[in-house]
Amino acid sequence: MSDFLSSGDIAGPGDWDGLERSCLTCERCPLCDRRTNVVFGVGPRDARLLFIGEAPGEHEDREGKPFVGRAGALLDDMLKIIDLDREKNVYIANMIKCRPPGNRDPLPAEQDACMPWLRAQYTLLRPKITVCLGRISAMALIGGDFKITRDHGKWFERGDAHFVALFHPSALLRDPRRRPETFVDLKALQRRIREICPETYA
Ligand code: URA
Repeated sequence: MSDFLSSGDIAGPGDWDGLERSCLTCERCPLCDRRTNVVFGVGPRDARLLFIGEAPGEHEDREGKPFVGRAGALLDDMLKIIDLDREKNVYIANMIKCRPPGNRDPLPAEQDACMPWLRAQYTLLRPKITVCLGRISAMALIGGDFKITRDHGKWFERGDAHFVALFHPSALLRDPRRRPETFVDLKALQRRIREICPETYA
């Protein structure tokens, strides 16, 4: 497992509203110069499940919410398959809160600058299950040698916190042949939710 949980600073105050307020004015890296909006995160702040994407794209930058474009529509479909709903029982955030130009991969320095926000969100939420969407967030949270084609659907534990990675919805839009594997991963996730945090479905 990576040292995401145990190392590095935690940005901002220890309450959700204060944290969001500080994050919305963040100038920790140059991505702040070109953003329209900071994309902090959405969902119930007492959810047991945390989904973590990579970084906002054009639509997210415009609306200030994660996963609102085509990939977001697919993510909502994926959640629906296992009776989850971003309004009700999952918190959704990105590793990087501001859009990288042209949707390029976030640079290591940008990831380092932004990670304290996610760490603070994680600390407040204390999710039972964290789902990394795609390679970039899996490498940062689960481990640097993570390969999404090899390791998607594998479970990792740190104390009573459980982590798994799925293919990113954008990857599934590009390559629909991955969808059957993702369906299997989603059903395994649903079983794990029933085992570890059945209150999600109460
Ligand atoms: N891709 C992501 O990783 N996050 C978003 O919010 C949108 C697309």
